Amino acid sequence: MPNDSRPAVLELIGNTPLVRVSRFDTGPCTLFLKLESQNPGGSIKDRIGLAMIDAAERDGRLKPGGTIVEATAGNTGLGLALVGRAKGYRVVLVVPDKMSTEKVLHLKAMGAEVHITRSDVGKGHTDYYQDVAARLAAEIPDAFFADQFNNPANPLAHECSTAPEIWAQTQHDVDAIVVGVGSAGTLTGLTRFFKRVQPDLEMVLADPVGSVMAEYSRSGILGKPGSWAVEGIGEDFIPSITDLSSVRHAYSISDEESFDHARQLLRTEGILGGSSTGTLLAAALRYCREQTEPKRVVSFVCDTGTRYLSKVYNDQWMSDQGLLQSKHYGDLRDLIARRFEDGRVISVGPDDTLLTAFQRMRLADVSQLPVLEDGKRLVGVIDESDILLNVQSGDAHFRMTVTSAMTDKLQTLAPDASRAQLEAVLDRGLVAIIADASGFHGLITRVDMLNHLRRTLA
Ligand SMILES: Cc1ncc(COP(=O)(O)O)c(C=O)c1O
Repeated sequence: MPNDSRPAVLELIGNTPLVRVSRFDTGPCTLFLKLESQNPGGSIKDRIGLAMIDAAERDGRLKPGGTIVEATAGNTGLGLALVGRAKGYRVVLVVPDKMSTEKVLHLKAMGAEVHITRSDVGKGHTDYYQDVAARLAAEIPDAFFADQFNNPANPLAHECSTAPEIWAQTQHDVDAIVVGVGSAGTLTGLTRFFKRVQPDLEMVLADPVGSVMAEYSRSGILGKPGSWAVEGIGEDFIPSITDLSSVRHAYSISDEESFDHARQLLRTEGILGGSSTGTLLAAALRYCREQTEPKRVVSFVCDTGTRYLSKVYNDQWMSDQGLLQSKHYGDLRDLIARRFEDGRVISVGPDDTLLTAFQRMRLADVSQLPVLEDGKRLVGVIDESDILLNVQSGDAHFRMTVTSAMTDKLQTLAPDASRAQLEAVLDRGLVAIIADASGFHGLITRVDMLNHLRRTLA
């Protein structure tokens, strides 16, 4: 059996396809997307995972049996885990807690050890993810801190692979590149390469609202950072490797616009990208439409959307976050997460079994269900404790009907009831049933109330 010391998967990193966007209005411009989602770890960060590990091996910072430590929003961790584990290293990652569950599960499946830390604290705080990683790297013997934010191998990876690929794939004819900034590796690497071969090329920044990057690139002023839900890009400080010298335009894109554009890209072109792809696409389209002369513009699908199925592509999560516009009634119906009139209610019928009710609760991640006769008339509500009470005496009781276990003495609130009346119901530990003469509208739980309060805060 051949035993090539280089794992086969490493040959799949880079050389990603470049496709022309054909179904969006790009004004006088031609827009191309480089599908970094096609890397084996699903993102652009496979490139730097490979480059940083190769460089550390070469200069002796990483020795056989060593440990790779990194602070990462997820994708860099996947790149490091993919390459590091394939080469036989232990991989320890510190991840902020706003990251999608899919990413964290993927990291663990790849064999990485994941430390979750707070995403609501900034540089200098003891729980800040990069400070936690630096501490771990100092504590673990033979640890190599990849430190993408300061590691020269990060921009070098883009200077030596991403940039020449774009140059070749555009037949040496490209006017602008739209990028986001996380560690600034992509921006800096591309800037260095194109300064040599095409000095007039414009770098265009796509930055989430709340990040300090766009304003800093325009005015040199470091504003106060806010928060944003897009993953992988946006910063609350300026990474040391940042080179803004070719940046000619910067667009601040809201979470709502980013998520909407990611979904549009899937609907119109069939390309499933992550949340930051929406930010980049929104900025690229704005740039393209503002031009008065034809230009050839490149941007990225930085990671795969399969990583965001529970977020960007999940209508329920989107509306809980206030990112999906739904009809506004000006009464308690605005607090219902799954409105009957929107066809979003998850319910059971009175003749369904307790097992069906339980499985439906698990699938939708809810603790109670309305019981609807003929799919519309409310006859009861069943919750986890109703099921538990009945099945404790024998699991055969899972086959009992919902009617026998549900609560049918229902106290309802009309949509125009007051907030105080709603709070009184929730304070008693009950779920509020919103219904009137026209029928059942939906349930309001404490979580719905919390989501509503958080949305109005934003
Ligand atoms: C998901 C994701 N990761 C990483 C990057 C690039 O980040 P960096 O600045 O660290 O090279 C981007 C850029 O758009 C991105 O969308």
